[in-house]
Amino acid sequence: MNLESKIRNIQDFPKPGIGFKDITTLLKDGEAFKEAVDRIVENLKDKDIDYVVGPEARGFLLGAPVAYALGVGFVPIRKPGKLPAEVVSFEYDLEYGTDKIEMHKDSIEEGKKVAIIDDLLATGGTVEAATKLIESLGGEIASIQFLIELEFLNGRDKLKVYDVESIIKY
Ligand code: PRP
Ligand code: MG
Repeated sequence: MNLESKIRNIQDFPKPGIGFKDITTLLKDGEAFKEAVDRIVENLKDKDIDYVVGPEARGFLLGAPVAYALGVGFVPIRKPGKLPAEVVSFEYDLEYGTDKIEMHKDSIEEGKKVAIIDDLLATGGTVEAATKLIESLGGEIASIQFLIELEFLNGRDKLKVYDVESIIKY
């Protein structure tokens, strides 16, 4: 199946000049959603993953079904103030200003093998921050999987030391 044809391009969202990759059109197509999840699962099945980690919000949409299919646990990365127990936080730079993400301190045990899954690799800032949090807890990043990669933004450069795969490249 041509998954790329299931993604809708919205020009000038959220700002003029930005071409937004809208995955809602892929998610609502049952066969396409299944194929996208199955392809990520296939990439991970021999990697002996202990946990799938997904960043809020779109990382949940793909990360949770992948974790379910692998039969491993899912650990959320959340925006600040959402997680109820003790957290670790990481602040990172955006084009203008900063952003912050959090994980529960007890969510990954030392030495566990983690796969990070998100819908999109753009600048790489979000997932780079995720790697810092997971490693600060003692987790080992075994793989990073994206549905979409915007190659012209060179986000992969921030993730050079990891095994990074993406299904659809622009
Ligand atoms: C989007 C996307 C990725 C991130 C990619 O998330 O879902 O997580 O941006 O960009 P980067 O590679 O430049 O970090 P966003 O923060 O817009 O929020 P959402 O997932 O909650 O919709
Ligand atoms: Mg996101």
